[in-house]
Amino acid sequence: MSYYQRHIFFCLNERANGEACCAQHGAQQAFEHCKSRVKAAQATGPGAVRVNKAGCLDRCAGAPVAVVYPEGVWYTFVDQSDIDEIVDRHLLKGEVVERLLLPPSVGR
Ligand code: FES
Repeated sequence: MSYYQRHIFFCLNERANGEACCAQHGAQQAFEHCKSRVKAAQATGPGAVRVNKAGCLDRCAGAPVAVVYPEGVWYTFVDQSDIDEIVDRHLLKGEVVERLLLPPSVGR
């Protein structure tokens, strides 16, 4: 049994040189929205869900990206309703949200 039931990492990396990065695509807002949704669901802490910031996850071409463990499922998203769906279905119920999956070929 892992310490957290599910752990999501949001890339919040910002690049000053104009290259693609998650910070240019609303990653910070998505991270904050996710944290508040999980908190509102009273699903934070040991045995439940942890929402963390991350640096570059090296899949920048799909920005913004996040990854959920222990399943190792990668997502890309556009707006808050996408985050709501990841929270409600995956983080709280363990269902993969197929429509938001990051294609396996997407890299840096
Ligand atoms: S900048 Fe987000 S994955 Fe690289």
